[in-house]
Amino acid sequence: MQQEATRLLQAGNTIALVPTMGYFHEGHLALMREGRKQGDALITSIFVNPTQFGPSEDFQAYPRDLNRDARLAESVGVDVIFAPEAEMMYDQGHQTYVTLDALSLYLCGPSRPGHFRGVATVVTKLFNIVRPQVALFGEKDYQQLAVIRRLARDLYFDVRIIGVPTVREADGLAMSSRNTYLSPDERRSALSIHQSIQLAQEGVAKGIKDARQLVAETSGLIHSHPHTKIDYVTLCDPETLEDVKRVDEPSLMALAVWVGHTRLIDNAILTP
Ligand code: PAF
Repeated sequence: MQQEATRLLQAGNTIALVPTMGYFHEGHLALMREGRKQGDALITSIFVNPTQFGPSEDFQAYPRDLNRDARLAESVGVDVIFAPEAEMMYDQGHQTYVTLDALSLYLCGPSRPGHFRGVATVVTKLFNIVRPQVALFGEKDYQQLAVIRRLARDLYFDVRIIGVPTVREADGLAMSSRNTYLSPDERRSALSIHQSIQLAQEGVAKGIKDARQLVAETSGLIHSHPHTKIDYVTLCDPETLEDVKRVDEPSLMALAVWVGHTRLIDNAILTP
C-alpha cells in the first residue's frame, strides 16, 4: 500500500481515504461518493481494528464480508481497497499508541475505555501508510470525528478531514453495521433514539433551554420503549464536548443506548 501510495502521489494524484471497518451500508457509500469528488485516487481501508474493542465487546462477532464490500466499493468508484491483516497493522513487538488528553474522556469515553486510543492509533497508522490529502469520516461517530480532527491538527498531518452527514433508514434509524444485530422488536425500540433527538429539537425550537429538562424528556421517551437501557444522553459543546447547562448556543445532543445486547449511538446539533 505504501508503494502504491508513492506511485499515485508521484504521478500527481491527490489521494482521498475512507477508513472503515467494512460491512458496508449506505453510510459508508456516502463517504465514498464524497471521497470520489474530493480526490483523484479514492482508497478505502477495511480493517476491523482490534485495539478499539474492549475485552467484553463485539470484536469477534463484528460482521465481515470482504467480497460483498469489494463489489459495493467498486460500484461507487473506489480505486484501491486496503484490507490488511491484524498482524500487519500490529506486529508482535508493537508498543506505540496515540492518546488524547481530554476529548476521549467524555461521551463514549467512560464506557469504552481505550476505544479512542485504538481509533487514534489505527487512524495515525492509516494516514502514514496511505498518505491521503483528504480523509472522510461519518458524523454519526461525532466524538471519533472530533478526536481525528484534533489528532490531525496536533500531529501536523497534512490532511483535510471531512465530516459527512449521517445516513438514515427511511424511518430515521441511523445506519450502522451493528443494526444487523437487532431483532425486529429491538429494531422498533431503536427508533426511539432518533425520535427522542427530534423531541429535543422541537423542545429547543419552542424555547426550552435548560439542558437538564431536555435530557430528561429525551431519556423519558427512550425509557418508555422495551429493551432499551441508556448509557448516556448528553448536551455538550460541539468542539470541546464539555457539558452545557443551557442551550444558548448550538449544542451537541449525543446519546448511546443499549437496545438488547446492541449499543447504538446517535447525535444532532440542537440550534436555539
Ligand atoms: O469508524 C470506523 O469504522 C472506525 O472507527 C475507523 C475510523 C475505521 C477506525 O478503525
